[in-house]
Amino acid sequence: MAEHDIYILAIESSCDDTGAAVIKNEEILCNLVAGQQIHELYGGVVPELASRAHQQHIVPLVDAALKKAGVDKKQLHAIAFTQGPGLIGSLLVGASFAKSMAHALGIPLIGVNHMQAHVLAHFIAQPKPEFPFLCLTVSGGHTLITRMDDYFNETTLGKTIDDAAGEAFDKTAKILGLPYPGGPLIDAYAAKGNPKAFTFPVPNIPGYDFSFSGLKTSVLYFIRDAIKTDPDFVQKNLSDICASVQYAIIKHLMKKLEKAAKESGIKQVALAGGVSANSALRHTLADTGKKNGWQVFIPAFEYCTDNAAMIAITAYHQYRQHQFADLQAAPYAARQK
Ligand code: KG4
Ligand code: ZN
Repeated sequence: MAEHDIYILAIESSCDDTGAAVIKNEEILCNLVAGQQIHELYGGVVPELASRAHQQHIVPLVDAALKKAGVDKKQLHAIAFTQGPGLIGSLLVGASFAKSMAHALGIPLIGVNHMQAHVLAHFIAQPKPEFPFLCLTVSGGHTLITRMDDYFNETTLGKTIDDAAGEAFDKTAKILGLPYPGGPLIDAYAAKGNPKAFTFPVPNIPGYDFSFSGLKTSVLYFIRDAIKTDPDFVQKNLSDICASVQYAIIKHLMKKLEKAAKESGIKQVALAGGVSANSALRHTLADTGKKNGWQVFIPAFEYCTDNAAMIAITAYHQYRQHQFADLQAAPYAARQK
């Protein structure tokens, strides 16, 4: 008997974006996201406001996703949700919604790990990496190098011991008086600046681990001293400062990735997480790949930042391996630091 098609609805609500996607086997039929502008007013994500906004968005978003995909909820084989890590209040909204829907429809529930999903986003579209490959995941809460030997067989080679790469971007932006999230703004200003204008220390810690807190402190002191002699220093040099800090962040990431690739002998290298939207990081990875003979994989922009399509593709592979959750499955908050 021919295998029948599998339809899964996936929900992502780990932080401040509500996502809903519908997948048919490995094909994404629809991938919607509702962002939350409210946090810009506060210079960072306010957890209570995030969960309230998820509550407002989730029902209309799921309706719209099913409609756009042309799939009736009776056709669904499973409901997937981000189980963690993330903000607990935000996760609870997605988890409760997914559980109610799975229960009402009498279909299985699939709890997905958000970080695993960032990596498996590489299996949404061609070209897809082959196992084993290395993945550098860089987001607002995480920075790690993973060795992937199969969909659910991964080894963390190194991770940040303090701030994540996204935090390094966002905290630098905050020091410079830019609104949250600062990463995309630093990227834009840096494009017009000179990365060698100022020298910021590239962290030097052993192994494959990362550290960004020293860099953040050095930016803070540098700006504090510079504005003592020229109060307009930041406005006058914004692009050069952004380019120089970005240069140090990327150099640190590339050094560790090159070390991991060299020592593991793996030549397929992938990039994942929200910071992989950074244009200089994309270019630098492509160049570093060329230099080292790597095959480099960078997902389309919409699959880099938080999205439900990556939850859907991960859920599809979990479905095939019968990795289901029960209605008691609790979300987990812990963010890796
Ligand atoms: O993966 P993601 O969407 O959410 C988390 O799970 O954290 O990543 C968000 C992070 C934020 O820190 C944001 O500033 C950063 O990704 N980011 C960028 C860019 N776009 C998003 N950082 C640098 N350059 C960008 N273009
Ligand atoms: Zn993420």
